[in-house]
Amino acid sequence: MEINKVGIVGAGQMGNGIAHVFALAGYDVVLNDIAQESLERAMALIDRNMDRQVTRKKITPEDKAKALTRIRTTLELADVGPNDLVIEAATEDEEVKNRIFAGLQPHLLEHTILTSNTSSISITRLASRTDRPERFMGFHFMNPVPVMQLVELIRGIATDEETYETCKAVVLRLGKTPSTAEDFPAFIVNRILMPMINEAVYALYEGVGSVESIDTSMRLGANHPMGPLELADFIGLDTCLAIMNVLHDGLADTKYRPCPLLTKYVEAGWLGRKTKRGFYDYRGERPVPTR
Ligand code: CAA
Repeated sequence: MEINKVGIVGAGQMGNGIAHVFALAGYDVVLNDIAQESLERAMALIDRNMDRQVTRKKITPEDKAKALTRIRTTLELADVGPNDLVIEAATEDEEVKNRIFAGLQPHLLEHTILTSNTSSISITRLASRTDRPERFMGFHFMNPVPVMQLVELIRGIATDEETYETCKAVVLRLGKTPSTAEDFPAFIVNRILMPMINEAVYALYEGVGSVESIDTSMRLGANHPMGPLELADFIGLDTCLAIMNVLHDGLADTKYRPCPLLTKYVEAGWLGRKTKRGFYDYRGERPVPTR
């Protein structure tokens, strides 16, 4: 099946990046959010991030101009439904996602493929509450979307082969690489990444090292582009904690227990970059460790 028109629900950190890469790949994009202000912020960010790519000669100014004309914003779910592919990229909250899928339902076309960018919620469970579990799958982008090469494709128990093959072809047209994950808690990337981040928080909690020494060790000792605590701030500490809880609950193994210090930071509202404080304080000119 050919995909030309794409609807995206949620214009936050992930949604704006997803709209960015689809528009650059030549798809017509409808970007939806519940607040006009979020849509405006998303369009400004897309503009700025495309500028970075123009400056680095990754795309031409004409590519950027054409891509921007392909993105339409809307506050109505009714405009998102009638597309070939819909990607839900709203808050990581199952109730919110279920409400969105229910709101989209009357507006979907017969052939619309419905997907979620969830980083950890069961695809099979989300799919079972829609009218099309066979045309439903996980379409999981990494942050920052325009830069990261991978898209995880997660098959629910009922996802049919045509849906999977269609989504795989879309990932390739975006110039990205698909990896296939089965529908178990947190899939592949987060199943491996989050316990590493959680372990880094334990190392901090137990006094094995400071924020700076833990991040420097992993950056220079394991060649990671960011240290684990810097990466946790980048992803959002609330998201990291939510994913650890999904692993802990879903696999019932104590090796996934979230570090109490991670919980403490989230309780304080120190969620990382988005709130300007996490393992680092971002309020000044350069980030300063908070421990
Ligand atoms: N849009 C477009 N381009 C961007 C961008 C954005 N939002 N952010 C960065 N870039 C580009 C820069 O322009 C630059 O381009 P060139 O390579 O052409 O020079 C390149 O990306 C590198 O950026 P910087 O030089 O500014 O900074 P950097 O070298 O420190 O790289 C980084 C930044 C790409 C974020 C890098 O630090 C990195 O890869 N970090 C790890 C990110 C990661 O692990 N992400 C996965 C998180 S897990 C996840 O997302 C799953 C989940 O469900 C939680």
